Amino acid sequence: SRSINLAVIPGDGIGKEVVAQGLKVLSAVLPQDVKLETKNYDLGAARWHRTGETLPDAELEALKGHDAILLGAIGDPSVPSGVLERGLLLKLRFAFDHYVNLRPSKLFPNTDTPLAGRPDIDFVVVREGTEGPYTGNGGSLRTGTPAEVATEVSLNTAYGVERVVRDAYERADSRPRKKLTLVHKNNVLVYAGHMWKNIFDRVGREYPEVTTDYLHVDAATIFFVTQPERFDVIVTDNLFGDILTDLAAAVTGGIGLAASANINPDRTFPSMFEPVHGSAPDIAGQGKADPTATILSVALLLRHLGFDAEAGRVEEAVAADLAGRSTTTRTTDEIGDALAVRVAG
Ligand code: IPM
Ligand code: MN
Repeated sequence: SRSINLAVIPGDGIGKEVVAQGLKVLSAVLPQDVKLETKNYDLGAARWHRTGETLPDAELEALKGHDAILLGAIGDPSVPSGVLERGLLLKLRFAFDHYVNLRPSKLFPNTDTPLAGRPDIDFVVVREGTEGPYTGNGGSLRTGTPAEVATEVSLNTAYGVERVVRDAYERADSRPRKKLTLVHKNNVLVYAGHMWKNIFDRVGREYPEVTTDYLHVDAATIFFVTQPERFDVIVTDNLFGDILTDLAAAVTGGIGLAASANINPDRTFPSMFEPVHGSAPDIAGQGKADPTATILSVALLLRHLGFDAEAGRVEEAVAADLAGRSTTTRTTDEIGDALAVRVAG
């Protein structure tokens, strides 16, 4: 019989609350014969305060044995900025070679967005996940003095760019509109920018059915707001992708709906699924967090593990739930319950 051996990292703040709802919906949607096993990993701010550890080797090793990882949110104002981001979240993305950071954007019905009533918006950002300015390749001289010098070098390899660009072409080729946009800033970042563009053009010759386009990142932000329907698949650098996907979330229904998948397409390590939003310590523990982004991340998890029909059911349930949403606010738990009922029915 089939089984899913899932690692769960609830993390900090609202992470615990939204992950509980994600698991609720996951259990409800899986067929009877699929055995779901979960193991909780106590990682995040509380662990760091207690032991000073972010991600010990033993746990990194143990995580490798799972089929996938579901992560809530990492970060707390009581921990110095960067400690958990680098020591836990980015460490996982790098160690498990999550080079495809997939972030879909759909304009769901009845959502409170500046773009409500616009033609259908349905695009996906393929954000590079293991390189760019995220590698920690930099340094500071004369730190804290008026003569301080800081560098933060963006690392781009032909190998790393080609593999993510190829993945994006595959995705574009399998979608009805077959359109791929490269977003970079090659008028200023001439070394990395030209390498991205050359590889993008070269790989594109293998995908004659895919229409291609190039935009500088600043221009892309304008089109995200004024003409989002022009996008189908977007491929971009790690940092540009980080910024663009927050903007995409904001214009298509809010960060409460934005899902993401950190994918290792070669399946050499488990992929990791997490909402785009953070730990929101200001509303933690109050049942106010919207678990929808996590539940949509569970849909991406299901699809990655080959449960396509179940993934579709989760997405349809979310669309139906949003369409029926009234102005009365529901708790985190109530939204999870409603979606669990929908996917089971
Ligand atoms: C995200 C987050 C992370 C990122 C931070 C927390 C390191 O903003 O997942 O988008 O920049 O990738
Ligand atoms: Mn981000």
